[in-house]
Amino acid sequence: MTQGPVTRIEERLYRIYMEFFEKAERERRWSLFDDIPWDKINKDASDDLALCVETFASVEMYLPDYVAGGINVVRPWFGRAWWQANWGYEESKHSLALGEWLMRSGKRTKDQWFDHYNTIAEKEWVAPFKTARQMTCYGALQEQVTFVIYVKHRDFAKREGDECLYAIYDFIARDEIAHTRFYQEVVAVLLDEDREGTLADLAKVFAEFKMPGVDLVPDYDTRILQMRDQGGVDRDLFIRKVYLPVLKFLNIGRHEMLAAQRKALQERGEARGAAGA
Ligand SMILES: [Fe+2]
Ligand SMILES: [Fe+2]
Repeated sequence: MTQGPVTRIEERLYRIYMEFFEKAERERRWSLFDDIPWDKINKDASDDLALCVETFASVEMYLPDYVAGGINVVRPWFGRAWWQANWGYEESKHSLALGEWLMRSGKRTKDQWFDHYNTIAEKEWVAPFKTARQMTCYGALQEQVTFVIYVKHRDFAKREGDECLYAIYDFIARDEIAHTRFYQEVVAVLLDEDREGTLADLAKVFAEFKMPGVDLVPDYDTRILQMRDQGGVDRDLFIRKVYLPVLKFLNIGRHEMLAAQRKALQERGEARGAAGA
């Protein structure tokens, strides 16, 4: 049990979570049953559209691993642990909505969808970074990438004349940008607490970043190739829509970030050199 008075950082994290949660409860909640226009599905939409939906749903379906991995890392922090529980609830709706769209559109049968889940569940997601701070930096980037992707695919759904999927992507994108903001606000607190250490973690996460589905979702490479025509995230887009906005939000100068990145690379090189010696 924690002893003594509440520390400044704990108090700030709790406040960030309460603000996030209040906004979520008052302005952002959406219902799978009441808010999605299921009658506006375009059953003639292309198979490409369905494949993209299935890919996103697949990444979202590692939810049990994300929740288990995340909540244990932040267990000692009141606000952070409660965030993980609420985050899990919000993310759980994403895969459900996408899966329902696949079945209701007739693009996948119930059997196909459950078989797919079983294939997904055969592999386990393992957190790509070791510390809570690094995982927070990863969350800030990953949620922003996810937001960018859903916004692009919202346009794809529109082009395909599927108002239902447009609404689903719209609700999900709003959740993802709220998640981005939460993580970024936490990173801002961590920067105040230890700027050099947090910058080093951010640099490491930028250097090693990849989306959670890469090694897990079946045929991920083929899926990504097919998705690219409709809007994937290449390096250029990553810099413009993720890297630079994250730096701007956190008030980190590009030179300051580059210096941290150079240092991280140097340390990695030295560690490799020492391991090889
Ligand atoms: Fe999500
Ligand atoms: Fe999210």
